[in-house]
Amino acid sequence: MNPPEPPPPPWERRRQAAQAELDAARDGEARNRLGQFATPPALARALVRLGLQSLPPTAPIRFLDPSIGAGALYSALLSEAGERPIQDALGVELDPLALGYAQTLWAETPLRLIPGDFTALPPPNPAEAAATLIVANPPYVRHHHLSAEHKARLKARILTQTGTRRSGLSGLYVDLLLLSLDWMAPGGVGVWLIPSEVLDVGYAAAARRLLLERVTLRRVHRMDPAASQFGDALVSSAVLVFEHQPPPADHHVTFTFGDPEHPTQTRLVPIAALRAASRWRRELSPAPAPEGVPLAELFTIRRGVATGGNRLFVLSDAQVSALRLPAELRVPLLPPPRLLQTDRVESRPDGAPDLPNPRWLLRCELPEETLAERLPALWAHLQTGVPSVSSGYLCRHRRPWYSQERRGPAPIVCTYMARAGQGRPFRFILNRSQAIAANVYLMLHPKPALSERIAADPGVLERLWAALNALPAEALTHEARVYGGGLYKLEPKELGAVRVRLD
Ligand SMILES: C[S@@+](CC[C@H](N)C(=O)[O-])C[C@H]1O[C@@H](n2cnc3c(N)ncnc32)[C@H](O)[C@@H]1O
Repeated sequence: MNPPEPPPPPWERRRQAAQAELDAARDGEARNRLGQFATPPALARALVRLGLQSLPPTAPIRFLDPSIGAGALYSALLSEAGERPIQDALGVELDPLALGYAQTLWAETPLRLIPGDFTALPPPNPAEAAATLIVANPPYVRHHHLSAEHKARLKARILTQTGTRRSGLSGLYVDLLLLSLDWMAPGGVGVWLIPSEVLDVGYAAAARRLLLERVTLRRVHRMDPAASQFGDALVSSAVLVFEHQPPPADHHVTFTFGDPEHPTQTRLVPIAALRAASRWRRELSPAPAPEGVPLAELFTIRRGVATGGNRLFVLSDAQVSALRLPAELRVPLLPPPRLLQTDRVESRPDGAPDLPNPRWLLRCELPEETLAERLPALWAHLQTGVPSVSSGYLCRHRRPWYSQERRGPAPIVCTYMARAGQGRPFRFILNRSQAIAANVYLMLHPKPALSERIAADPGVLERLWAALNALPAEALTHEARVYGGGLYKLEPKELGAVRVRLD
């Protein structure tokens, strides 16, 4: 445990008050789009301490925060630098509102503020005094919040500045991290608080390679996801600490877990092992002995359908009657896991799940004119989704915008998300109805070889389902991605790697 934090100094008290105003001025959607989740004060100080400890005591402090917000990290620097003079401090901020707060808060300090997008700024001239200490909590902006033009600009910039190819699925935080290297003095220290998925996901593979080639990676710390640092953002975080100089050949990286300054687990890993590993988190935790068949050999696994707007497209029996919706324009839909009390769903004669309050997915590709003429109630219902739903990411790419992906029912579905410490983390549902599933589930469609076995012996499916539900929790959580607050998500590929015994 850390010793209790001293009471905040006056500038930090003012910063916290300004932060509260700034957070209240933006709704959740806007904060997500800008990746605006301020670093909690105690963590900000811990990050700055980690940076200062890695910086040689005689090195000048030239600080940079490429996405400074109201300045939680700068404020922590003012507290932690003590007697060490701060030769320079620079902050970049895209959001004019956050920038305004920072300007007011830090007007009396040497902090220089640059308005704008860090990823669009030209890197400083190498002759200029570059940063010796970057401490950053970059915006966690997922790729679907980035427009195609924005991605193209980032791609070109990443290629010229780092020589690597940017994945279109990359979150913006990877761009800030990679582009910041050109702002660093040789030997300068970087401390980055970023989503821990950077250790695993394919889109960060090039970033992981650069972290092993261009810098000396000192620490890879995983925050304990059960103690979420960002309650409302639900992202579990990692902290990277590195020095801006190529590593010695036999360099070892310290992997830690828990509190960054008092980790509960520590492990030294040679960079040669990391270069060979495709996913760092997985390679570093002991894998259960493989036994049985990977599910990907038995099933085609896909996320359930993303409707693009459940309010509009998921209908109750009463709505189906009110809209006079013909049977061919709807398909039964499983209720979400929290409303599904059973793991075995039987079928009604019409194919709907034999459950109270069945739901239907509207599945209509008829043109608007036909609807207006032949099904006016449905047409009017759809109009209530213009433009809120129709201009959403999924709907605006569909023709017509209210059409849905065609998908057949799957005899087994698995919940997509789970919370740690809740008994069985993921549930497998045996689905004997014609219902399809939304993207809160993964759908498991038997591959031809398994279909043949099931046709010869229908009991196979039931036994498989029982075996899946009997899997130890770790068999699934080991493959899953973990987010803040102990939230696990299992992507199709990850479920495909889970093995089951098929006797
Ligand atoms: C996760 S917050 C961190 C703020 C602050 N450094 C802290 O630790 O509390 C990220 C900040 O980056 C800003 N931001 C988003 N995109 C940016 C960009 N492209 N360039 C610079 N800042 C950006 C957001 O407005 C937000 O203030």
